[in-house]
Amino acid sequence: MWPQLYEWLALFIKWFHVIAGIAWIGASFYFVWLDNNLRTPPEWKLKKGIKGDLWAVHGGGFYEVAKYQVGPEKMPEHLHWFKWEAYSTWLSGTLLLFWIYYLRAEAYLIDPQVMMLSAGQAVSIGIGGIAGAWLLYEGLLRSPIAEKPLLLSVILVVLGALFCYGFSQVFSGRGAFIHMGALIGTIMVANVWVKIIPGQRKMVAQVSAGEAVDPAPGLEAKRRSVHNNYLTLPVIFLMISNHYPMIYQHHYSWLILCALIGLSAWIRHFFNLKHQGIDKPSIIVSGAIGLLLLAIFVSWTGSRSQLNAASTASSTVKQNALTSAQQQASAIIQQRCSSCHSRTPNDDMFTTAPGGVMLDHWQDIDRWKERIIARATVSKDMPFLNKTQMTEQQRQQLQQLLSAE
Ligand code: HEC
Repeated sequence: MWPQLYEWLALFIKWFHVIAGIAWIGASFYFVWLDNNLRTPPEWKLKKGIKGDLWAVHGGGFYEVAKYQVGPEKMPEHLHWFKWEAYSTWLSGTLLLFWIYYLRAEAYLIDPQVMMLSAGQAVSIGIGGIAGAWLLYEGLLRSPIAEKPLLLSVILVVLGALFCYGFSQVFSGRGAFIHMGALIGTIMVANVWVKIIPGQRKMVAQVSAGEAVDPAPGLEAKRRSVHNNYLTLPVIFLMISNHYPMIYQHHYSWLILCALIGLSAWIRHFFNLKHQGIDKPSIIVSGAIGLLLLAIFVSWTGSRSQLNAASTASSTVKQNALTSAQQQASAIIQQRCSSCHSRTPNDDMFTTAPGGVMLDHWQDIDRWKERIIARATVSKDMPFLNKTQMTEQQRQQLQQLLSAE
């Protein structure tokens, strides 16, 4: 029952995470769009302190939105805050990271070919890496470097690339990518939590008390929002990246990831300018061409799996030392799974190992044991569409052999 229940719970958390993420990023896109589209209002509204207004039609009605320069004279009775979208996205994302990558670290997070780690070590590096990155970011933004936007941007980009590289040197491909996603998501939520919301609280308190509003926290909040805005497209890419082994499995996965993050932020820049009425098609065209060239280049140069093919020979020697149960299990997997799940797949459709699952050696099979049992003997949805015609008897046999291990 457990493998299936585990999957059900993973589904619920992931489902919730995606919903929360849509609500957060949707609200974020909407407010950035709103801000960029505000127009100078007529004189009588300016006198009330309204800096910009906007008319829109949606859902069968007209909307009039007004943005006050510093705050209304009197606090309205109902004031909507937007914070739980961000918090719930982070909380569910963290739960998902634990549920999938930390609870199943042996399969998803650790790749012995990259680095031999225990589950405890891998999880500590993961949490430490994310927390360390956030502290670095926060420290930089509070330091004198923050006064020099260009220098700050260069340092942040270099640090980002270093983390991409670092994670790729300790974790499996998927593990490295999800950690970059978690790292960026954490910085974004922390921006909401430590600067944007407290800044707004201060502002609301000053308006309620009838005091003059100090613009400094608002400006800092705006800067953090801008950072978050540029990080939205990269973080969404990272959320879906674990469906694409040809990227995370690649020998230079970290470089490809850096390029994807940079290009997607560049494309976001086009939309930011466009909403302000500045049309620069060259940005989106160059971004799209960049992505296409990246795809062509990476497809042309081949994947890590092919580069790693040479290592197959050395490990076959160890295969002799296997018990007879291990040999039998290996033989079944060789026959029914390896056409797709190999460093050198020969399936007509799947040219890089799906899910990053490569089952060439006993060491690999051991690493993926639980997931093999779950997919080939419990849910029985592997082999994919039973393309390799695995028999019911082989499934039972595999279950017995692997469970005994
Ligand atoms: C025809 C190709 C093909 C064959 C053969 C095949 N698989 Fe898969 N496998 C896939 C695809 C595609 C995915 C990714 C989609 C998914 O997870 O449903 C996948 C994913 C997986 C995963 C990752 C799931 C996870 O939980 O992350 C495991 C484990 C797996 N397969 C095990 C097996 C085993 C064991 C066999 C042999 C008994 C096998 N597969 C045979 C195509 C194949």
